[in-house]
Amino acid sequence: MRMDRDIAEVLYTQEEIQRRVAQIGAEITRDYQDKDNVVLVGILRGSYVFMADLSRHLDFPCRIDFMAASSYGKGTSSSGQIEIKKDLTDPINGAHVILVEDILDSGNTLDYLSKILTARNPASIRIATLLDKPERRVKSVTADYYGFVVPDAFVVGYGLDYAEHYRNLPYIGILKPEVYETP
Ligand code: IMP
Ligand code: MG
Repeated sequence: MRMDRDIAEVLYTQEEIQRRVAQIGAEITRDYQDKDNVVLVGILRGSYVFMADLSRHLDFPCRIDFMAASSYGKGTSSSGQIEIKKDLTDPINGAHVILVEDILDSGNTLDYLSKILTARNPASIRIATLLDKPERRVKSVTADYYGFVVPDAFVVGYGLDYAEHYRNLPYIGILKPEVYETP
């Protein structure tokens, strides 16, 4: 496809992602089998693809809600300043919250959001992230569920963007540096 030419290396193919997402879904299904009032909170915009796939691998009734946060602007590294652009639609007090993220990088976003949501008295909060980039961690946030541990490179696809593009790439790849280094 046309976007392939901007990708230096394919990290995870569509098939590999689907297989892994099904496994995470089975794991979460096991853990939440007996729970009522479960809500998946997708962090927009990066989580939209993972949320759609993961939620269909959960075999229990749950609510779906979204929050939008941004820390990145148009660059490729976290500013540490998190801004909430859209809050949840419904209350979460007493609910079992599963935060659904595309990638856990510095940890600034999930550290901030978990604190904000904890203050609303949910029954529990856990984190499910498709990708984990532990080398770049600044805050001590750990994922309860993760798909793949990725190297310290800028990746795009399956919801992950560079300057709001490439989210619709169906696989996950490393962007060619010249794509974001050209002035
Ligand atoms: P954190 O706050 O540094 O953990 O960053 C989390 C957010 O940064 C993610 O939700 C992504 O939107 C973005 N991000 C971090 N690393 C990458 C990457 O390699 N590619 C695309 N987006 C990334
Ligand atoms: Mg982003």
